[in-house]
Amino acid sequence: MSETELCEAQATGEPLAGRHCASGAEACLNGAATLSEPVTGESSESWEPLILTFCCYWCAYTGADLAGTSRLQYPTNIRILRVQCSGMVHPNLVIEALTKGADGVLMLGCHPGDCHYLEGNLRARSRAEAISLMLEDFGLEPERFRLEWVSASEGPRFAQVVTEMVEQVKRLGPSPYRSP
Ligand code: FES
Repeated sequence: MSETELCEAQATGEPLAGRHCASGAEACLNGAATLSEPVTGESSESWEPLILTFCCYWCAYTGADLAGTSRLQYPTNIRILRVQCSGMVHPNLVIEALTKGADGVLMLGCHPGDCHYLEGNLRARSRAEAISLMLEDFGLEPERFRLEWVSASEGPRFAQVVTEMVEQVKRLGPSPYRSP
């Protein structure tokens, strides 16, 4: 679209807020509207939770991969972050995610006894208790965080855990730290 052409918003006078500009620009180059709301803005009716999912490299990530290659259906609300071991995820990372845009955090590691680093998942389990307490301090429901074990051969379990977590967070609603 050239600068002299009217974009859809100019032509109809409709505000752009809450919609993607068809030109893909972050700000309206045609002066039709100011994108005062995030371009990905969602009304409360269309809100979908965003779940950050830490997957340990040796088990859970492979389980996620298996779910994908097996074409198992699960919600698309998750964003996977691969980590070497669940034991390396510091509680501060979970809090930071929940206070900066995520509605829930899922941490997936190897089953107890299977951790590639022997006790990393046990450390993760201890940290999960600390995380629950920290969430209360931040005014967040403990259900926004969940630690689960998923082995490399458990694609169906991965899909099930993700589905349950998304449903759980949907019931809670958006994180209070989300931008309006
Ligand atoms: S390597 Fe998977 S939890 Fe430690």
